[in-house]
Amino acid sequence: MSRDSHVFDATAAQYDLWYESPLGQAADDIEKRLMAEAAAPLMAQDTLDLGAGTGQLSLYLAAQGARVTGLDISGKMLARARDKAVQANLACLFLEADAAALPFPDGSFDVVTCLTALEFFPYPADALAEAWRVLRPGGRLVVGTIHRDSAWGEAYRAMAGEGDPIFRHARLFGRDKLASLLGASRPSLSEGLYLGPDARPATLAEALRQDDEARAQGAPPGFVVARWVKPGGRHQVGGDSADWLPSVPVPSGDGPL
Ligand SMILES: C[S@@+](CC[C@H](N)C(=O)[O-])C[C@H]1O[C@@H](n2cnc3c(N)ncnc32)[C@H](O)[C@@H]1O
Repeated sequence: MSRDSHVFDATAAQYDLWYESPLGQAADDIEKRLMAEAAAPLMAQDTLDLGAGTGQLSLYLAAQGARVTGLDISGKMLARARDKAVQANLACLFLEADAAALPFPDGSFDVVTCLTALEFFPYPADALAEAWRVLRPGGRLVVGTIHRDSAWGEAYRAMAGEGDPIFRHARLFGRDKLASLLGASRPSLSEGLYLGPDARPATLAEALRQDDEARAQGAPPGFVVARWVKPGGRHQVGGDSADWLPSVPVPSGDGPL
């Protein structure tokens, strides 16, 4: 366990306040939708959500019929997730463990997701290698990250520079770096969240309208999803990573991390 492993314990009680603001709701809505789209199908799929935190994505996937195990290194974040599962009457297993050493046999899951958590893993490459190991042939590995080269990336890097207790532990990925994390196996990418962190919409509907406008004006996406498909298996959906069509085409050729 690294010295940074429990960095989220201190923020667990306040973490979900973000989802109460219209901007937080919009970011959550956009991110979860892109993740679910890339992970589909979900019904009766054995799904592992890495860095599950307070269960925001885990519970969303469970509500769509996935059989979800949410894994996190922070017991306090998981305690919130368990409470939310009870309140929502959703069956979801939450497990305290390190994403870099998964306590599952090879080929245990149809889907592995990781939403805005890889940025905080001390050993992201090890975590992805473990995720790949526990996937079944034909399974989908879906990783959603804050886009380094965006207004969100800039804001978080500024916070890190000021010693923010959470973001000083973050390592943000550009598209190329994200796509290279599993070596030769290249993912398909999708993206969203064009609205910037300085926006102050009054409602969720206004936030989503502003997001559309920012996209039309060419703002870079604040959120990028990589989707890898493990070769083989009858669960394979839409062929391999290379021929899956993301909802939004991603331009090639971004800069290094
Ligand atoms: C920004 S939160 C994201 C939580 C959730 N996925 C969400 O989108 O709300 C990052 C999470 O990664 C977890 N984390 C950090 N290092 C970890 C590790 N080595 N193994 C498992 N989880 C880890 C943190 O405890 C935290 O809950």
